[in-house]
Amino acid sequence: MTSTDSGTGTRPDGTVPFRATLGRSVGLFAAFRKEQTDPEFFYGKLAHDTVDQLRSYTPLDGRLVVDVGGGPGYFADALRAEGVRCLCVDSDAHEMTLHGRDADANAVQGSALDLPLRSGSVDVCFSSNVLEHVPDRIRMADEMVRVTRPGGLVYLSYTLWLSPWGGHETSPWHYLGGSYAAERFTRKNGRRPKNDFGRSMYAAYAKETLRWVRGREDVDVVDIRPRYLPTWMKPIVHVPLLREIITWNLLIVLRKR
Ligand SMILES: C[S@@+](CC[C@H](N)C(=O)[O-])C[C@H]1O[C@@H](n2cnc3c(N)ncnc32)[C@H](O)[C@@H]1O
Repeated sequence: MTSTDSGTGTRPDGTVPFRATLGRSVGLFAAFRKEQTDPEFFYGKLAHDTVDQLRSYTPLDGRLVVDVGGGPGYFADALRAEGVRCLCVDSDAHEMTLHGRDADANAVQGSALDLPLRSGSVDVCFSSNVLEHVPDRIRMADEMVRVTRPGGLVYLSYTLWLSPWGGHETSPWHYLGGSYAAERFTRKNGRRPKNDFGRSMYAAYAKETLRWVRGREDVDVVDIRPRYLPTWMKPIVHVPLLREIITWNLLIVLRKR
């Protein structure tokens, strides 16, 4: 008997295998170059890729998923296309209508540091590229575990500070210090960067979050990997310092006990 259903590729537990190939990474990085000029294309592609990846960890149809820091709702759209009941929580009303999009009907304004949800109330707590924007990363991670039901999944992914894109639009000058990079950007552009070090963007490391994972007794690790990179690069997350630079975006997938 094979481990997947030959008709649909679906495994007996309802998950669907996902292949993180080099070609997929190249496609994502190529799309990233269009982030500014064609955000619909880039975020749509990323959201579909992410949903495919998420489906390899948990069945999605009919599940209740909260997207923490969901912004304009690209991920919510892609999740709903898979039959998910999706709710977005974001602290910034302006971000919810970014790129001329209508605010998501199921979005609430609230903080990732104090999620407006009951403990154990969602099947999947999902967050993409938000952790580096909050001043207390451990508190956000704790909140994500809190609202997830026993047996449910936490999908937490964020950009590492020491990665080439760690400073966002102030990169690569963040390697000389976040404040320096922000000041330099301000001088050059006559305005502060949107991702402003110490105000709306912080130095998020792999080390800190992995230590947090090890310290939690109510979760099992399902996967820890560089989100955008091929599977064969997975071992990099175990190499101190190098992982902070090369992983780029760290994905942590946990199952709540
Ligand atoms: C870089 S955007 C990511 C949007 C989307 N998740 C994605 O991956 O494209 C960061 C988002 O996090 C939100 N955010 C920042 N701090 C937050 C907080 N404390 N609570 C909830 N959302 C927050 C911002 O408003 C913004 O929508």
